[in-house]
Amino acid sequence: MRMILLGAPGSGKGTQGEKLAHEFGVPRLSTGDALRAAVSDGTELGRKAKSVMDAGGLVADDIVVQIVESRLAQPDTAGGFILDGFPRNTAQARTLDALLRGHGTPLDLALHLEVDDEELVQRLLLRAQQQDRADDREEVIRCRIRVYGEETRPLLDYYGAQGKLVVVPGTGAVEDIFQRIVVRLAEAAGKSAFGGRRVAHA
Ligand code: AP5
Ligand code: MG
Repeated sequence: MRMILLGAPGSGKGTQGEKLAHEFGVPRLSTGDALRAAVSDGTELGRKAKSVMDAGGLVADDIVVQIVESRLAQPDTAGGFILDGFPRNTAQARTLDALLRGHGTPLDLALHLEVDDEELVQRLLLRAQQQDRADDREEVIRCRIRVYGEETRPLLDYYGAQGKLVVVPGTGAVEDIFQRIVVRLAEAAGKSAFGGRRVAHA
């Protein structure tokens, strides 16, 4: 299973991505988590990324591509992976396609979690009270959602045109959404050769 998660900030990419990674026995690779780790470690990469992340913009493509490229070179991704937060624009999507083509391991599908903007804002404001993410401030949240609409949303057409897009409503209870995803993945597996044996039995 080689899958990417598409969805606005707060749509549940991390929440559902963790559950899916466990279900399929593959690693979840989050560029946001990798960047936040670099920021807290105070690396040069982290220093470059911090101000952009705090403002809700997109970090430069070469930085995130480097993160993904080195992560995908690690052996635990040989059996598949779930990419959370990458790609985020068309240039990144093209780079990922080329990278995977080079390995002879094309992407199986792109899962889009659909959640309306006001619910996204409410979820992230709630998280702001529970955790300490520098970008969970209302004006930054709204900026992230705007950037998503402008830069990332076009990827729905990009993967739709490849016949790889699966769209799932991302509202309701976490477990219900997960079951919804599993059903949709099983349907998609029936139509393609991505090897959905585990979902087919879920
Ligand atoms: P990233 O870390 O990817 O953040 P994001 O896309 O803004 O998304 P979040 O992590 O906030 O939300 P999520 O969709 O994972 O939802 P979650 O499960 O956490 O990126 C951060 C920044 O890094 C970017 O802004 C950018 O600067 C940079 N970056 C990262 N990747 C990049 C790239 N490829 N290129 C350039 N820059 C990049 O859920 C959110 C909250 O809702 C949680 O509190 C959760 O508990 C709750 N929740 C989840 N599901 C439900 C539910 N069903 N009902 C109610 N609450 C729920
Ligand atoms: Mg996340």
